Formats: sequence, structure tokens, C-alpha cells
Amino acid sequence: MSAHPSQISAAADSDRLPVTLPSLQEKKALGEPIVMVTAYDFPSGRAAELAGVDMVLVGDSGAMTVLGYPSTVPVPLEEMLMLAAAARRGLRTPFMVGDMPFGSYEVSDEQAVANAFRFVKEAGCDAVKLEGGGETSVARARAIVNAGIPVMGHVGLTPQTATALGGYKAQGRTASAAERVAREALALQDVGCFSIVFEAIPSAVAEEIMPHMAIPVIGIGAGPATDGQVLVFHDLLGIREGLGARFVKRYADLLDEMATGVAAFAEDVRTRKYPLPEHGYTIPNEELEELREQLAAATG
Ligand code: KIV
Repeated sequence: MSAHPSQISAAADSDRLPVTLPSLQEKKALGEPIVMVTAYDFPSGRAAELAGVDMVLVGDSGAMTVLGYPSTVPVPLEEMLMLAAAARRGLRTPFMVGDMPFGSYEVSDEQAVANAFRFVKEAGCDAVKLEGGGETSVARARAIVNAGIPVMGHVGLTPQTATALGGYKAQGRTASAAERVAREALALQDVGCFSIVFEAIPSAVAEEIMPHMAIPVIGIGAGPATDGQVLVFHDLLGIREGLGARFVKRYADLLDEMATGVAAFAEDVRTRKYPLPEHGYTIPNEELEELREQLAAATG
């Protein structure tokens, strides 16, 4: 007989120690790949916990995958906080990073620090992530780190500013563009980021930059040289339509399975195969008899 999910979770929860900044740094030092996955709600948090991943990113990709926005740009801070708080309730051991949405950190250091605190205090995040390695992002990362909140950087393809980058396409494909990615990564490292995401850059470029990185680098479409890999939950499990980016590997086709399950339910309802007697509740005959008498008296 297979274990009930609550038994699996109890075992997983009790065996693992929470992942910390030193344990992530130790993994890098030992050359042990770091696994990060996105999560946006209680069930995806539980899946990440049960799978024993090292890090969970409540990515602003959730704007598209769970909230249905056309891009990550419109998602309000309040909605990101709600997703992060829900994921937190499903997690105990992975290190959880909240993604600061577009417009929630660019205006001033004060804005960035105040909103980073909201991710920590209201949603229970261990750290925040912000996109870009230009002057503004580096200044904001420095301010948030100085306020005592760990910051993850993000260079290469940064979807919040995809328009300025010429669309959703790989970055760093010329020597000068690759040098810019390297310069931005080093600047973020210098101001104290604990980790950086490299997104959609040539594998060879990541390989060249890696010897200069003292902090864990998590890649997505950056080849095998980084210290770890991240994929979007809905991409890897096939909970969205379309194939997605070149770097996505699908491990399941859950959207198909979900649609198949809902269609089977619809068919059962329409053909009266559901519900069956075993899905209903019973009442003793004498109680039913009394009910009938009461109803008859009440309705004449
Ligand atoms: O929002 C997100 O999911 C991300 C990852 C792709 C790194 O930023």
C-alpha cells in the first residue's frame, strides 16, 4: 500500500535540515549541484518540499503561469506577496527567495528596502531577488543587503526589461555583450549578493565567467557550468500550453492530465455516472421518516 501524502511529507520534513546561506556556499565549494525550482502557492510549495530541492524562487514568472498576465511586467507587489505567503505555508526546508516585481525597487533605495522587508516580514521569504546588473539594480541590491536582507541577482535575459533588451532572446552573444553580462554579475557580487541567476546566455560565456564567481550561480539556459539550475515549475511539469524556451526540459504533461481528469468528471456528471451511492452520506430510516412527516406537516 502506498504512503499517504501526509506520511511522505512527515518523513521528508523530519529528515531534512533547513537550507541556509552557509549550506548553499558549502554546496558550491563541494561542487554539489544546487537545485532551485519556482513555486507560487501551497501545492507547488509542498511539491518542492517533498522533492527535497535546495531553493525555491517565488518568481514573478508566476504573473504569467498562475495569474495569467501576458508578461511579468504588470504584476503588482501585493499579488507577489500573496503568492509568496502561500508558497511559504507549503515549505519548511528549502531556502525561499521572493522575486521583487517590476516597479517595486527601481524608484529609490528607500522603496527597494521597504518592499524587500515586506517579502521577509509579510511573506516569510529568506531573501529577495531583483533583476539587472546596471547602475540602478546594483545600487538597490547594495541598499537591501546593507539593510540585512540577502539578495539574489539576475543577469542575462531579464524578462522585466525584455522590451529594452529587444525581446525574449538570449543575451551575451557577442564579446561586448558577454563582457557586459560578466561586468554586471561581478558588480552584483561586489555589493554583497549571496547568489546570482544567469538566464539565457551561451554556455561558453557562463563557463568563462564562472571562475570569477565566489557566490553560487544558478543557471537557466546558461549551460552546465553554473553551480545550480532552476526551472519554472509550470514549464518542467507541463502545466502551460506551448513548448516554452529552448532550455526547458519537460518532466510531465500535467496540463493534459488535468484537462483529461476534468473532462472525465464532466462526462460522468452528464451521463449520471457520478455521484454513486458510495459518494453520498446516509441518514437512519427512522430519521428520514420523521423528516418526511415534518415536511408534509410544514408544506400541507
Ligand atoms: O521569475 C522567475 O521564475 C525567474 C526565474 C526564471 C529565474 O526569474
